[in-house]
Amino acid sequence: MFNKKAKQNRKLPTHIAIIMDGNGRWAKKRSLPRSAGHAAGSKNFKDIARYCNKIGLKYLTVYAFSTENWKRPKEEVENIMNILREYLKDAKNFKDENIKVKFIGDLQPLDHDIKELIKDAENESENATGLHLNIALNYGGRDEIVHAVKKIVEEKIAPEDITEQTITDRLYTAGHPDPDFIIRPSGEYRLSNYLIWQSAYAEYWFSDVLWPDFKPKHLETAIDAFCGRDRRFGGVK
Ligand code: IPE
Ligand code: IPE
Ligand code: MG
Repeated sequence: MFNKKAKQNRKLPTHIAIIMDGNGRWAKKRSLPRSAGHAAGSKNFKDIARYCNKIGLKYLTVYAFSTENWKRPKEEVENIMNILREYLKDAKNFKDENIKVKFIGDLQPLDHDIKELIKDAENESENATGLHLNIALNYGGRDEIVHAVKKIVEEKIAPEDITEQTITDRLYTAGHPDPDFIIRPSGEYRLSNYLIWQSAYAEYWFSDVLWPDFKPKHLETAIDAFCGRDRRFGGVK
């Protein structure tokens, strides 16, 4: 563990991305409906975002709903969307805390009222100077790349002018640094279509703790591990 001084001097990752997984199993363990797991997961998300803002993290991107999650029972999808509505209605979440919120993903198929609430939340927090909080909603890494390719074709960019940057600039995350640390709680060891382009050189942390139980102390253990990693990006040191 770091002592206080070492903690102040450590080099935090610039951008942490979290796959908020394990809500269903958290509820099952307690003989509760899956909706209770999503409610607990949502509460934990707010706590962790606040904590990241407090320690001075620049970017946090959380996976809230994937392009594959529509396969779930209609009631569960509705329940998740309702939790999102409640979160968005509480504009204080962003304004008072100086957190700048942005949604990434294909927002087009979402209900009209959710799209309006998202716009409000993004506008409301536009000038915040604290944590950049990206919420991945109806997000899929492959879907995101397809969208970028469509834009390139629409813009009639010549093949010889296409570089990695051309694609990067047309992703939902355009203008944001790549995640340097990806955390997946809940004991699964996969990306599930999350930030597949952006994570090319990310470091990874997997934990068996289920998302609603993943507290700042678990995040600190992960960050400590990140600080000890030797990142070479294909070069030599
Ligand atoms: C993550 O928890 C929340 C979403 C995918 C929306 P899960 O609902 O996937 O929880 P498990 O994996 O079933 O435990
Ligand atoms: C990934 O979790 C998506 C989110 C956390 C929003 P899933 O639970 O959907 O992923 P799989 O199905 O286990 O790969
Ligand atoms: Mg899951």
